[in-house]
Amino acid sequence: PEASTHLPVVVLSRYACQRRTSTENHNEIFTDAFEVMAESYEFSQCDGQCLAFRRAASVLKSVPWPVERLGAATRLPCLGEHTRAVMEEILQCGRSFEVEKILCNDRYQRLKLFTSVFGVGPKTAEKWHRGGLRTLNDALEDPGVELNSMQKAGFRHHGDISRAVSRAEALALGEILHQAALGISAHAVLVLTGGFRRGKEFGHDVDFLLSTPEQGKEETLLLSLVDSLRRQGILLYCDHHPSTFDINNLPGVSFEAMDHFAKSFLILRLEDRQVEGGVQRPEGQHDGRSWRAVRVDVVAPPMERYAFTLLGWTGSRQFERDLRRFARKEKRMLLDNHGLWDKTKKEFLPAEREEDIFAHLGLEYLEPQLRNA
Ligand code: CTP
Ligand code: MN
Ligand code: MN
Ligand code: MN
Repeated sequence: PEASTHLPVVVLSRYACQRRTSTENHNEIFTDAFEVMAESYEFSQCDGQCLAFRRAASVLKSVPWPVERLGAATRLPCLGEHTRAVMEEILQCGRSFEVEKILCNDRYQRLKLFTSVFGVGPKTAEKWHRGGLRTLNDALEDPGVELNSMQKAGFRHHGDISRAVSRAEALALGEILHQAALGISAHAVLVLTGGFRRGKEFGHDVDFLLSTPEQGKEETLLLSLVDSLRRQGILLYCDHHPSTFDINNLPGVSFEAMDHFAKSFLILRLEDRQVEGGVQRPEGQHDGRSWRAVRVDVVAPPMERYAFTLLGWTGSRQFERDLRRFARKEKRMLLDNHGLWDKTKKEFLPAEREEDIFAHLGLEYLEPQLRNA
């Protein structure tokens, strides 16, 4: 009998916040291809097509087995003509020629390379590409290129930052930041968020939420924390954004907008000996150093905004996008990292825990481990 006849029929929601998505991806062959398509459209500023491929990838990540044919056992939402065509190619030939063409494309390769530098976004990458730059060295040596301090740090630590951060490294940094925070205030609260809170084994950075029950002291706490890291000699770079939070501003409707809380984008120095179980360096990376640079993000909301910020920074990005879209389209509510606004009642809905926010939205609570959309 065909495998599909043994599988239960699942009807997946078109909202990631109504799907369970663990870290286990059974459809990587499709989602990796979709990610290339999405990135390529992002480089061309085709936001609609980019989002279509990201949504389709997110749906496939929530299917708990490898999809072997289109339509059969699983009714998949968010798959359009183009995404289906790419899937069909992969199902029939084991690979997508459209994706392979993109991977060979000069412009794609260069934009991918340039945007791999911390501080270089698609716009700068596009400018460098149009200016005829081909390699990272070209960008460093071209007299016409003026690097800002973030990009300079990005180039200086490019090798380290391009290498994935392991869970052991994330936990080691958590310990260092926790000690530093407690050294400033006994009431300090520091929690791991982002991909590692969702149970991922590797990440591109480590994300933390820092707060304190002492009202209005969270921003000073963050500044003191960064200062403490500097004095310990482990602060390699800091881009600090002061708080512009004002409760009288309604939650923003657009997802991409950053929140208004104080936050710092850091590069920290992590010693090998501080990592539990030691550090495995990939072949050829034994350069005599006993430390690596790691990207770390810290956001510092006031305690009464804690649940909203934790939910927002835990991600995934696609999960957050769909939570907001669900709130807006299905509930007439506006959700962002600051709060939840009910347009019908014309009031902010309070939340102490993430569970409260799911409940306000009429959603079943999903553990962080199931938000890997
Ligand atoms: N985020 C945010 N505002 C920012 C930066 C990040 O709200 N200024 C949120 C993102 O929406 C995301 C979460 O923080 O949901 C984590 O972002 P990021 O570190 O980019 O992604 P991860 O899911 O942690 O994945 P990775 O392992 O690649 O770091
Ligand atoms: Mn993957
Ligand atoms: Mn992260
Ligand atoms: Mn981050």
